[in-house]
Amino acid sequence: MKKEDQTVKNRHMYAEKRWLLALGIAAMIGGAFLISSVVRISDYSFLLASSRGGPAVEYSPTPIQLQAIIHYATSRIVPQQKLGEISVTFEVLKNRSPCNFLVFGLGHDSLMWTALNPHGTTLFLEEDPKWIQTVTKDVPNLRAHAVQYRTKLSQADDLLKHYRSEPDCSPEKAYLRGNTKCRLALTGLPDKVYDTEWDLIMIDAPRGYFAEAPGRMGAIFSAAVMARNRKGPGVTHVFLHDVDRRVEKLYAEEFLCKKYKANSSGILWHFEIPPAANVSQADGVGFC
Ligand SMILES: *[C@@H]1O[C@H](CO)[C@@H](O)[C@H](O)[C@H]1NC(C)=O
Ligand SMILES: *[C@@H]1O[C@H](CO)[C@@H](O)[C@H](O)[C@H]1NC(C)=O
Repeated sequence: MKKEDQTVKNRHMYAEKRWLLALGIAAMIGGAFLISSVVRISDYSFLLASSRGGPAVEYSPTPIQLQAIIHYATSRIVPQQKLGEISVTFEVLKNRSPCNFLVFGLGHDSLMWTALNPHGTTLFLEEDPKWIQTVTKDVPNLRAHAVQYRTKLSQADDLLKHYRSEPDCSPEKAYLRGNTKCRLALTGLPDKVYDTEWDLIMIDAPRGYFAEAPGRMGAIFSAAVMARNRKGPGVTHVFLHDVDRRVEKLYAEEFLCKKYKANSSGILWHFEIPPAANVSQADGVGFC
């Protein structure tokens, strides 16, 4: 290689490195802006609070939070939920994190949910194993499991009838693991899901927009069962997305209950479900 060529090449490499550095800095600044638009300034106290309640300088972000900044600053694809909808869940996470957060659906918002629950457990359940591979290729430290559903959206009305006549679906008896008789119980979940008491449950999957899709009936029923079986203090927060659809609305009113609806934004409803032990028998019929 001629000396002249070498110099030209070096110059190119130098320019490239500088460009990369600039991009990196821009990404971090962009990320900071992104976060501050999602997280109002007053909310910083949450992100900055240390367990000892000391000054902000003691706060050290987790690696996944830093990764989230870079990821969203350099991605054109943003979470599907609207800011108002995300804020409803964020508001709860601020008080409950670090907590156990179960999310039906893996998507472009997954890294955000994980980052908003630092030091907690955030687990995603996803129907499509290929999609898990696609998403975790870029973000390997998300915790996602594939789930097979036993239902079809077209069976939604039949399944409600089935639930009313099947004792193993009844609110007094209902359980999930191995409950094959109750077709609404999700029986194919990883043990980790059954063995954990979930503080927050987000239902934004499986697909429920065509007749052959699994629909969210099983997820909604199972979230209600988990919430009622809670042994720990406090309520279970359940967030249901796409409540503009008939089946979501119908199942929410049957299992998550209007009286437990605590908040909403856009097409997201937020329920605070107390453990069944705390609800007196005379309170109502069915799950509500
Ligand atoms: C409802 O959610 C909003 C965020 O979108 C929050 O500001 C408000 O405090 C919440 N209301 C209740 C009653 O939790
Ligand atoms: C349930 O009842 C117990 C005992 O009465 C009480 O300490 C606890 O706060 C209640 N939990 C909820 C979510 O209401």
